[in-house]
Amino acid sequence: MRFSVLVTLFGVGAVLMAVAVVFMYGTDGADEPRTPADHGRRLFRLQGCATCHAIGGGISRGPDLAGLIPRLSARLTDAAYRDHLDSLQVARPDVYAFFAPRYEGIFSAQGDERIEAWFAQHLKNPRFDHFTGLMPDYDHLTEEQIERLTAFIMTLK
Ligand code: HEC
Repeated sequence: MRFSVLVTLFGVGAVLMAVAVVFMYGTDGADEPRTPADHGRRLFRLQGCATCHAIGGGISRGPDLAGLIPRLSARLTDAAYRDHLDSLQVARPDVYAFFAPRYEGIFSAQGDERIEAWFAQHLKNPRFDHFTGLMPDYDHLTEEQIERLTAFIMTLK
């Protein structure tokens, strides 16, 4: 008799534990980030990026980020970026001089690394090469968060 009570209690305990585990972790873990890009996608939401940036349609205060990477590649070729910087230098030589070391850093990287270097600067201070920009600074992000956000935006082809 006593043994069967114990078995029953144990059974009830096990069921409760299972319910608690499912409740805490979900059944399939589908929402859990796995790759750096998954983490970045989640950060994009948690850091409020998604409140200003749609990706492929919807209301967007800032640019819609669909097709971002081809767009950035075109904007960051030596010739295109130099042209853009020249016009900044003419408009605001003082601000240009202040940010000049950052432009050198971008020119010294090539290909995807140039895009990544640009994006890191853009997060730190979006006005560094767009003096009248409206996007807020994200200079509170850690290196790891920047890496994860970068992995995510690199998927926006
Ligand atoms: C308050 C609105 C706002 C928030 C929040 C915001 N952005 Fe922006 N973002 C903008 C605007 C506006 C621009 C256009 C350039 C500018 O005005 O600075 C922009 C430009 C960009 C661009 C360049 C897009 C292009 O096509 O040129 C990228 C990439 C970007 N933001 C990523 C992010 C990420 C990642 C976050 C979150 C960490 C974020 N933004 C948060 C408003 C915002």
